[in-house]
Amino acid sequence: MNAGTQGIRIRRVSSRKRSRDSLQTHLTPARKRGGGDTCLQQCPRNRRLSSIMAQIQPYCSDSEDLFGDYDSILEDSSLLAKLDDAEETERQRDLQSAAHIVAVDQQDFIALRPSKDGAWKRSGEDILTDSILDGLGDEPFEDLPGSQVQFQEQVDENVKRRRLQEGEKTSTPFRNTDTEAGRDRNMEDKTKRRSKARRSVTDQLKRTMLCNAAAPSNVSRTVVLKEAVVSEEISVAMQAMETVSAETTDLGPFFGLPTKVKDLMHKLRGIKNLYDWQETCLNLDCVQQRKNLIYSLPTSGGKTLVAEILVLRELLCRKKDCLFILPYISLVQEKVRGLASFGLELDFMVEEYAGSKGKFPPVKRREKRSLYVATIEKAHSLVNSLIETNRLDNLGLVVVDELHMLGDGSRGAIIEMTLAKVLYMSKKTQIIGMSATLGNIRDLQTFLKAENYTNDFRPVQLKEYVKLNDTIYEVDPKEEDCFRFSRLLNFKYSSAMQKIDPDHIIALVTEVIPTHSCLVFCPTKKNCENVAGMICKYLKEEFLQHRQAEKAVLLRELRDSGNGSVCPVLRRTVPYGLAYHHSGLTSEERKLVEEAYSSGVLCLLTCTSTLAAGINLPARRVILRSPYVATDFLKRSQYKQMVGRAGRAGIDTVGESILILQSKDRNMAQTLVCSPMENCYSNLMHDDGKGITSLILSLIGLNVNPSLLSSDFLRGTLLFVQQQQLCAEQSLWEVVQQKVDLLKDKDLITVTPDAQTLQVTKLGRATYKGSVDLTHSDVLYRDLSRGLEGLLLNSCLHLVYLVTPYDMISQCKPDWRIYFRQFTLLSAAEQKMSAAVGVPESFVARKAAGQTGEKRKKTQRQNGMRMYLALVLFSLLKETNLWSVADRFQLSRGFVQTLLSSSSAFCSCVLHFTEELEEFWPFKALLTELTRRLSYCVKAELIPLMEVVGVMESRAKQLYNSGYKTLTHLANADPAVLSRTIENLYRKQASQIVASAKMLLNEKAAALQEEVDELLTVPSDLPTTPNTQQLT
Ligand SMILES: Nc1ncnc2c1ncn2[C@@H]1O[C@H](COP(=O)(O)OP(=O)(O)OP(=O)(O)O)[C@@H](O)[C@H]1O
Ligand SMILES: [Mg+2]
Repeated sequence: MNAGTQGIRIRRVSSRKRSRDSLQTHLTPARKRGGGDTCLQQCPRNRRLSSIMAQIQPYCSDSEDLFGDYDSILEDSSLLAKLDDAEETERQRDLQSAAHIVAVDQQDFIALRPSKDGAWKRSGEDILTDSILDGLGDEPFEDLPGSQVQFQEQVDENVKRRRLQEGEKTSTPFRNTDTEAGRDRNMEDKTKRRSKARRSVTDQLKRTMLCNAAAPSNVSRTVVLKEAVVSEEISVAMQAMETVSAETTDLGPFFGLPTKVKDLMHKLRGIKNLYDWQETCLNLDCVQQRKNLIYSLPTSGGKTLVAEILVLRELLCRKKDCLFILPYISLVQEKVRGLASFGLELDFMVEEYAGSKGKFPPVKRREKRSLYVATIEKAHSLVNSLIETNRLDNLGLVVVDELHMLGDGSRGAIIEMTLAKVLYMSKKTQIIGMSATLGNIRDLQTFLKAENYTNDFRPVQLKEYVKLNDTIYEVDPKEEDCFRFSRLLNFKYSSAMQKIDPDHIIALVTEVIPTHSCLVFCPTKKNCENVAGMICKYLKEEFLQHRQAEKAVLLRELRDSGNGSVCPVLRRTVPYGLAYHHSGLTSEERKLVEEAYSSGVLCLLTCTSTLAAGINLPARRVILRSPYVATDFLKRSQYKQMVGRAGRAGIDTVGESILILQSKDRNMAQTLVCSPMENCYSNLMHDDGKGITSLILSLIGLNVNPSLLSSDFLRGTLLFVQQQQLCAEQSLWEVVQQKVDLLKDKDLITVTPDAQTLQVTKLGRATYKGSVDLTHSDVLYRDLSRGLEGLLLNSCLHLVYLVTPYDMISQCKPDWRIYFRQFTLLSAAEQKMSAAVGVPESFVARKAAGQTGEKRKKTQRQNGMRMYLALVLFSLLKETNLWSVADRFQLSRGFVQTLLSSSSAFCSCVLHFTEELEEFWPFKALLTELTRRLSYCVKAELIPLMEVVGVMESRAKQLYNSGYKTLTHLANADPAVLSRTIENLYRKQASQIVASAKMLLNEKAAALQEEVDELLTVPSDLPTTPNTQQLT
């Protein structure tokens, strides 16, 4: 571009913009001053900033004009007076040093200019194709105005800081940071960047400003003032631009990412092209500018991919860590498995934060960036620990999948606390939320200060129907009663069949299976099993032949996963291609069933609503057995999640859902299918304000807002946005006062001696650091204290009892006779311990004998239940056979597994709790080991293999028996060989296992490397010149 004839066209900031590094490379603090001064000499004497500005304006549209409108500021005489004074002083100083600087730096600048034949003299420099410098010619420069000097000094400072940060990123412990080395590195950087031909707009602007600074000293005061003001404006504009694009470096053409990412998407996901909406969304201005965003599309719309691309941009281009929040452990594990290969290929860490997994604070990495994939609870603890260690700024992006979970009781409150803390503490961290079912997006937008993108795209069209008696109606909101007649159901039922299947489920499913897939949502777990069994009873023999061999393999795998046992219902239904799916299955069974369904070996699943929550198991036809979940009428969002499973992208041309209705439910069903989405409300006041109370505790503990008097933090919550709807009778301030008093009463916080601020007590700190429920923290403290007085250590029952989660008690209904039998099998010492915690043999015996007796204290009843659960866990740890333990205690194996995983998670919470309280030091070693044992609950030799996400017990056994005995074996395995060696291990699964193992191995090795680096790095505050006076 020739500045002599053309102005500067200021373009919109684009994600495809090139690196700004060239600025950093050219302009070392000294050279930048020099560059500016040399530039001054080469600019035409009469070219002043004002004249350049005059040229710029006509080329800038209003919205793009970053410099416009400065006249209005000129009217502020007081500001100008101040600028004038400051500038005068600066000018005097600059005049004295200018000559020296020019002399020193002239050499450098000349080396940057092209030679006559057009070749670039210094090979390390990047070539400007449209740089403003091109048009400046070899005209002389003049002195800098003072305000520009200040601005430049600031830029210098930033460059210095950035360079220092770059230096710190090395993993070499002993670093030489002297200027010589720094210069060498600059040269190296320049060489690397030679290929970057085009500079970013920001870069050009900075260069422009250097040249713009070429104002002569003997110009009119107005012009000088104008320049001063303009340069201030530039500074502000630059800062604004920096927040958008400062550290963003485009790495390629795929939304700023290298083509390799696109290839990986194809190779690993089978995704060739983005959907139109995905492209539009990624190109939104607000997305480019890293503004917070909520996007909302129907189920299966492909929301995840957009979030993942943004995550990759943040990790690779901005080199920041990311946090991906998912609602369930299984989803976290699936995501970790799915992204491990990306991490290996693109050189970032994928870290699992679920159950008992995840380090607090996270491992500090200088070399690589981390993607934390976390459950809601772990994400909160992670954010707390990042705040505590002053590292929240390293978190560039937080993604919340299923954002509507904000409205989901205490878990919703935890999401809200997490996001409110990020919003308040780190202005640069971007927040992205996605959901298929959001009603009041506006409230959420206000809370998250976010933009919104909505689209009703579905890759496969969804047709919704309801069935009343033997008539099928299509859902059509335009119809008066929402339903339009579609057809009569064609079925020939015997009277016996009519009795067994009055809702014609068999007729509905046999219209699609076995060729197509079908999901039948049932209101209860038992109903799932019954419906699956009932359908099989009437299916023809041909169903048995469909993919017979693969179904036999599935049954064998199910048997292996159950150590030789297989569920009798599945044994009957699988040969027909049917299975049930609910939380009563073990996670291994669920995974096997899901995989078999995805590959078409199973054609029908009967399931509860939990299957609809995020698992990607679509079906040609979705049947809702009734509009209830247990005894509650369906919510609109639940309905939408379920019917949204209909239609498999790339396979079906259409998906259909059928809601089976009884006449009595017709009216309610009309509202259900046609009403707008339910609103999502804050849950900080849920359960007597438990959420807001623990929020206040952690805010005081983290020193985020210890005075609380300004309550400005609370203004940033969803509760504040919805205050009128949720707690109109009380002001937020009153609520806070009340909760502060409560925390004082519980001895979790105190007032500082000077009565100015609040601070947490040791117990308070232990409570929020351990993420222990406020209602349980004092009980836990008491239990642990008593434990110290007489901890039984020749058996793990006592320890297991201490980490049995309090919130599982309500889900337990012991069979007291079984309880008693198990109790009598305990050793004398174990029985004594049980009596010591308030559960003597006599109590269990009386209950087993059916005596209700005198009204027991609530605590004794609760301790009794807790001991029962502890007995279950105790048996599990001894035998490691989930099936036999579930059988013995007459519990579902799914429940026993849930108990085990919540106990391992709670055990790690108790560990963090005890770490904050000196008196509990002996627990540390004990609980560390117990967490590990509860997390895996398998023979010790299988644990290293099961640490790899996706490897469960039966697979670990297979691997172990085939010689893959350690993590290193797995990480170095060839997926092709692995899938050939291990029975029923598909190639894709083998690749995922190897990738996950590699990732874990890298993670462990990197953690050790970081530790070594830290140990060998010379402390920055190492005293260098001893104070001899003090020594003597
Ligand atoms: N551009 C694309 N081309 C082909 N398939 C795609 C594309 N984007 C996403 N998919 C696939 O579509 C399926 C559904 O995507 P995804 O799980 O992201 O949906 P979702 O919008 O998150 O739905 P839900 O609300 O149910 O979670 C996935 O199998 C995904 O791989
Ligand atoms: Mg999704």
